[in-house]
Amino acid sequence: MTPHDSLSAHLPGLDQTCTPYADALTAYADDDVLRLDVPGHQASTHAQPGLADFLGPRVLELDIPPLTQGIDFGDAPTPLGQAAYLAAQAWGGKRTWFLTNGASKGNLVACLALRGLGTQVVLQRSVHSSVVDGLALAGLDAAFVYPSIDAEFGIAHGVTPPSLDATLTANPDAVAAYVVTPSYFGAVADVAALAEVAHRHGVPLVVDEAWGSHFGFHPQLPTNALRLGADLVISSTHKLAGSLTQSAMLHLGHGDFADRLEPLLDRAFRSMQSTSASALLMASLDHARHQLAVNGHTTIGASLDAVDKLRGRIEAEGRFGILDSRMLGFDDVVAVDPLRVVIDTRAGGISGHEARHLLFEKHRIHFEMSTDSVLVAVVGAGAIPDVDRLLDALHSLPTTGVSGTPVIQLPEPGTRASSVRDAYFAPTEVVAAADAIGRISADTVAAYPPGIPNLLPGEVVTAEVVDFLQQTAAAPFGHVRGALVKDMSLFRVVTG
Ligand SMILES: Cc1ncc(COP(=O)(O)O)c(C=O)c1O
Repeated sequence: MTPHDSLSAHLPGLDQTCTPYADALTAYADDDVLRLDVPGHQASTHAQPGLADFLGPRVLELDIPPLTQGIDFGDAPTPLGQAAYLAAQAWGGKRTWFLTNGASKGNLVACLALRGLGTQVVLQRSVHSSVVDGLALAGLDAAFVYPSIDAEFGIAHGVTPPSLDATLTANPDAVAAYVVTPSYFGAVADVAALAEVAHRHGVPLVVDEAWGSHFGFHPQLPTNALRLGADLVISSTHKLAGSLTQSAMLHLGHGDFADRLEPLLDRAFRSMQSTSASALLMASLDHARHQLAVNGHTTIGASLDAVDKLRGRIEAEGRFGILDSRMLGFDDVVAVDPLRVVIDTRAGGISGHEARHLLFEKHRIHFEMSTDSVLVAVVGAGAIPDVDRLLDALHSLPTTGVSGTPVIQLPEPGTRASSVRDAYFAPTEVVAAADAIGRISADTVAAYPPGIPNLLPGEVVTAEVVDFLQQTAAAPFGHVRGALVKDMSLFRVVTG
């Protein structure tokens, strides 16, 4: 997809009711093409009978490689260019790139592109680990702006405009402000005010909106970040907007930074994009955009009715709590995504992890995430969960006596001893957890969920961080990304 391809897509009749890329794939799949190219299954049930049986033969027929005439190659705007154009229109951007390696890739592309503006960014400390990987890859240095923490529930929220302002003032060489909103728990920061602050400091606002790809498609949902003035937005479309897993989008806004950023993004995108990007994933983006833009109002309305009922009945029953109003009490939270229901399980006498485990094992209900204190239900845009089944199961959970036990506290990050990149590429050694305390971490280590790094390359390992990671690893469903061993008894640190 060239810039020319995407920008010249003003075709008569091309509007949100169209799915140009998916339609081009369909036409090709239906055509009698003798395939002598890759993928090597060549849509042959003889070559891959097991796979064809597993997925259905149609999936193989639609698995069409890049650089195919009339799909993403040939006269501009190609159907892929048209689909990207429609996505940019739908979210309110100047340009959209389709990603086939998740919002993780969007963060890598964004970091690589920002390095073309300078060497330092102001970054929300609680970003996803892919941003940290982006810093190492691009050689960007970060000055951190810290989110507020709900200590009682161990949840990090967003950042406030004044704290962004202060960090940008203290770091006049920064070339961008990079924040994440909404949070995994659905807390939404004041993007319009953050954009105003960033622009006043002469830098673009980059928003990792991985968890808000559905925003803006129903009046009861928050407005999306592009429409609030963000300059670059990373969107995990496969999350609540419903495209296939791993498909995502990168959106460039219309603001003053677009002309400078666009060629940088184009190059970074090409560097990070597979030369065999999956047509199936990209077609799912075309369909998800169409569904949100054309039917979102109705289908999301039904999802909102379901979550309203869920919230209302949980509150009426009285055993568990809902965290919405508590989250709104923090000054970096201006809205809550209604499609994320954060349930206080400790109030009902059971830890979030234990509740999640039992709900899956005994009731086959799988929640997106738990912490020590909460369960987080995610309802995809347009999905309508069986609320009665969920409520019955939830209220049948045993009390396991957590009330009164201390919550696993989110640890304070260790102090910075070097840049992410220096520690990432430094000579390292693996040491026992006790011996790692006081040493410089070489790895990014993040408790999952929510995947926010607790330890960054270049940060000093503290006893508090070790303790938190070990407790998380020991919890049911607990997983630590970047762990050398499951129980977090070993850490990789910088030698010397
Ligand atoms: C804030 C944030 N950004 C980026 C990502 C990465 O998204 P993806 O899984 O689409 O690569 C995640 C994943 O959960 C996330 O929470």
